[in-house]
Amino acid sequence: MSASSPVSPADAPKVLVMVSGSVAAIKAPAALRRLREAGARTQVIATRAALEFVTPLSLSTAGACEVATDTTWFAAQPQAQHLTLARCDVAVIVGAGADALARAAQGRAEDLLSATLLSVRGPVLWVPAMNERMWQHPAVQANVERLRSFGHHFLGPVFGAFGTAGEGEGLGRMAEPEDIAAETLRLARPRPQDLAGRKVVVSAGPTREYLDPVRYISNPSSGKMGFAVAEAAAARGADVTLISGPAQLPTPAGVRRVDIQSALELHSAVVQAAQDADLVVMTAAVADYRAAEVKTEKEAKGGETKTIELVKNPDILAALGADKGRRVLVGFAMETHAGVERAAGKAQRKNADFILLNYPTQEGTAFGGDDNQVTLVRADGSHEAWPRLSKREVAERLLDQAQALLPAN
Ligand code: CTP
Repeated sequence: MSASSPVSPADAPKVLVMVSGSVAAIKAPAALRRLREAGARTQVIATRAALEFVTPLSLSTAGACEVATDTTWFAAQPQAQHLTLARCDVAVIVGAGADALARAAQGRAEDLLSATLLSVRGPVLWVPAMNERMWQHPAVQANVERLRSFGHHFLGPVFGAFGTAGEGEGLGRMAEPEDIAAETLRLARPRPQDLAGRKVVVSAGPTREYLDPVRYISNPSSGKMGFAVAEAAAARGADVTLISGPAQLPTPAGVRRVDIQSALELHSAVVQAAQDADLVVMTAAVADYRAAEVKTEKEAKGGETKTIELVKNPDILAALGADKGRRVLVGFAMETHAGVERAAGKAQRKNADFILLNYPTQEGTAFGGDDNQVTLVRADGSHEAWPRLSKREVAERLLDQAQALLPAN
């Protein structure tokens, strides 16, 4: 993936790059270079610790600007450099460690980076880099949650080698400079209203297939991916119907929500809502089978073994695909092996425009997580892997792709 194409100087977004103190700071000049190649105007803050890893000269050369530090901040008269720097279209923290996250989550202001963050009005993108055990510590995750609740965005960390020699591989490696530049510029652009006048139907969450009044077959889908798609589509002006299985999530602003339990209920709700839809996104984890007979009373236990007869549920995406019309259809598939091949087969069989493939075995993505790492797969087998992103960012990219396929209004 590469950063967006160059923009005219008048539209050039103002990007504040804050370099935090991890060994990944050495990648900051490359990220700055990518941003400038894509036409951004950059400004740089480096923490004291960052300057242990990367020199001010390499940052100022790559960013074509002065490098603001705690020293320049304290020397400034009046001491308001943080307010000037905060006037940007987007701020990105490159190589963010646990301490920078903690300070921001607490709203502290004793250093230039933290003080500036309190005044930034535009979007804030964190690009963390740290040891996997540190990243997964509940204290760090609580800080990440808190920052997300302020509307901050996260890119990574990704799987791979991290830290200095010997620390090994895991979920701690910082995202690559080209992905940092692309994601930063994406946030700098105002959200387009490119789905205004479009009807979007999104299915989300698990289904519950009852065996009797108190027992059911289900799966751990949280619904987060579908809710993110619904929220993003509404923010881009679409008329959105979200059809959700049981999910502990608030209804996104401006979204019409229909709650269902079983695959049969989901089927009829989706088919009805999809009648005049422009785009249908099936993120729901639909149970493939349901009980042949649902007992009306709770069944007491019997012998040592028990056999339950199941019958196949309708394939909702395939049903929509069989009568596709002008609708754009998007599915999701979770595969443990031969992912691209299997997802392409599903796109073909179900007549979907594309399928977003993910792997349940990948830590921190898929069920219940806030991030997802997906590969877009088309029926002809062509595919593109996206970096690990927040589910909201996956949703935005999904909508970018789907929007490009919509027939003109
Ligand atoms: N899907 C659907 N109706 C079903 C099953 C799946 O609409 N009864 C949709 C899902 O919402 C998803 C896509 O089809 O968008 C692929 O789901 P998946 O469970 O991977 O497909 P299956 O056809 O059930 O594949 P498998 O044979 O691997 O179970």
